[in-house]
Amino acid sequence: MLERIGHMLVRKANQEEHRPVFDEAGDIPQHIAVIMDGNGRWAKKRNLARIVGHRSGMQTVKEIVKAADGIGVKTMTMYAFSTENWKRPRDEVDYLMKLPQEFLSTELEELNERNVRVRMLGNSDRLPSHTIEAMNIAEERTRQNTGLQLNFALNYGGRTEIVKAVTELARQVQAGELKPEEIDEALLAQHLYTRDLPDPDLLIRTSGEIRLSNFMLWQMAYTELWFTDVLWPDFTKEHFFEAIAEYQGRARRYGAV
Ligand code: FPP
Repeated sequence: MLERIGHMLVRKANQEEHRPVFDEAGDIPQHIAVIMDGNGRWAKKRNLARIVGHRSGMQTVKEIVKAADGIGVKTMTMYAFSTENWKRPRDEVDYLMKLPQEFLSTELEELNERNVRVRMLGNSDRLPSHTIEAMNIAEERTRQNTGLQLNFALNYGGRTEIVKAVTELARQVQAGELKPEEIDEALLAQHLYTRDLPDPDLLIRTSGEIRLSNFMLWQMAYTELWFTDVLWPDFTKEHFFEAIAEYQGRARRYGAV
């Protein structure tokens, strides 16, 4: 399906038509955030349990992470579990909490060999110990890696993250270590989970929902947003490249003209 003409990757729909997918020599988004939505609907359409959709979604994570690494994306942040997802049925929550372990048990070795650094963004307080342990092991093993930064947002909430940052700064003010007028955007950003990571250039959300759902609210102030109706388990690297192609066609102005 995909082939290369010069530095362009093209989709070959038939013998006559070559549709540009994206320019490999062009601006590749350095940080891509992904809301992996639609696992439940994917399963329902097939009369399967929702957890089967999540399992299938995990396979998509593998494919997309590989594709991102292959084209030189520096950071990927995958929204795996939000602070609101605790409202789901207990067995679904339990299953979602097992997925990081399952993913890492088969992928960590290869990720490490590919110089990928794995990290968790979120509040570990409510997570089961087996989930924390799996993430800790992955973070420890890959801490020195300088390739793709692969973040899993787990028990993550954008508002909670900002409140945490504000609380930490308030404590410093209370202790006399910081003056209120010294607080600026850069200092607040240092207290977010993403402290040493660049803001996302591109957000991809699957399954036709057009909202941010409390994901990286501070960091996405100038992120380009890209939505698709495709459900996450059906999302392929060709869809991923389409998102990048559209990103490359956009003019980022950051408020300027
Ligand atoms: C949203 O779909 C998806 C989630 C809440 C979970 C996302 C998790 C994965 C894709 C697997 C994570 C993998 C790793 C490696 C941790 P939904 O269930 O809300 O779908 P629906 O809107 O169709 O019900």
